[in-house]
Amino acid sequence: MKRDKRTRVLIGATALAMVAVAGCGARGGGTASGASGGTFEIKLAHVVTPNTPKGQAAAKFKELVEQSSEGRIKVTIYPNSELYGDKDELQALQSGAVQMLAPASAKFTTIAPQLQVLDLPFLFDSVQDIPKIVAPDTTVGKSIFENPQLAQKNTKVLALWDNGLKQLSSNKKMTEPTDLKGLSFRIQPSDVLRSQFEAWGAAATPLAFAEVYNALQQGVVDGQENPYSNIESQKMQTVQKHITESNQGYIGYVLVINDQFFKGLPADLQQDVTDAAKASADFNRQVAADLNTKAKQTIEEGGTTTITTLTDAQRQTFKDAVVPKVWQQYADVIGQPIIDDLLKQQGVS
Ligand code: LMR
Repeated sequence: MKRDKRTRVLIGATALAMVAVAGCGARGGGTASGASGGTFEIKLAHVVTPNTPKGQAAAKFKELVEQSSEGRIKVTIYPNSELYGDKDELQALQSGAVQMLAPASAKFTTIAPQLQVLDLPFLFDSVQDIPKIVAPDTTVGKSIFENPQLAQKNTKVLALWDNGLKQLSSNKKMTEPTDLKGLSFRIQPSDVLRSQFEAWGAAATPLAFAEVYNALQQGVVDGQENPYSNIESQKMQTVQKHITESNQGYIGYVLVINDQFFKGLPADLQQDVTDAAKASADFNRQVAADLNTKAKQTIEEGGTTTITTLTDAQRQTFKDAVVPKVWQQYADVIGQPIIDDLLKQQGVS
């Protein structure tokens, strides 16, 4: 499943050539053809495999919007960082080389640092808590759906997908923060995540998702954090002897579209895109838990990795080291009222 570097470069170059030809179309880069601006192509790039919660939500979006638009919108999905990866996808969106992306919130840190709210450790105790905290009309939801920094960057938020909660992996059994001391963990490029690992005594190294497997295999880093579906679909368990089921953080995907491209669509097609995005988010929630459960089973059956579930007391020890300390550390970036509101919901003042 892993591609060697040369194959990836060739795929990337071919895809870029296609974009260059296609890019002469409508505003925001999507191709338009036909008598009255008839058909539009949306290129949707992402970094995971098609059988993950994000991959499945992307396929659902494509199915729904192609159906409701009666073929006037065609969606082409580029998974696995094949077209663009973590380092260049946001630039590609803003320039119109692709029209849609669904990066994890952490990937927006440089252009919209407030989105790190979703990286706050232990924001959720279980997946059941997710919908009520991130709904568009909550303080957290507004900071994402109405984010002014994204709006300034030609980036419109359509929906929030997710992949549930993250688990820790390394070659060492980890049941308390001191077990992480001296280890280095790959993180997504988020300052909040860096502070989380540092509070546990570990070092943090930001790396693109496509580089994680090799970095673990070659010992560039000792561990990482991700939901089971990302661990299993990247075969990380074959190079990590231990997983700690800690549910310590959330992976939320911000489904975004190039705003110029969106505004260039006829009103009925804008509605089709908005509706399909909403419906794909509902679908994503339904499949995420199931896909993560199945991925966990596959890892267990593979026999390469021991999964240790933290007791409530052990999880609380990890939590006490970062809440409220790390949350307060980022109050300026995320917004003190949001932090206060979230701490209140946790019963911490
Ligand atoms: C990661 O980089 O670990 C994840 O954000 C990948 C993803 O998109 O699920």
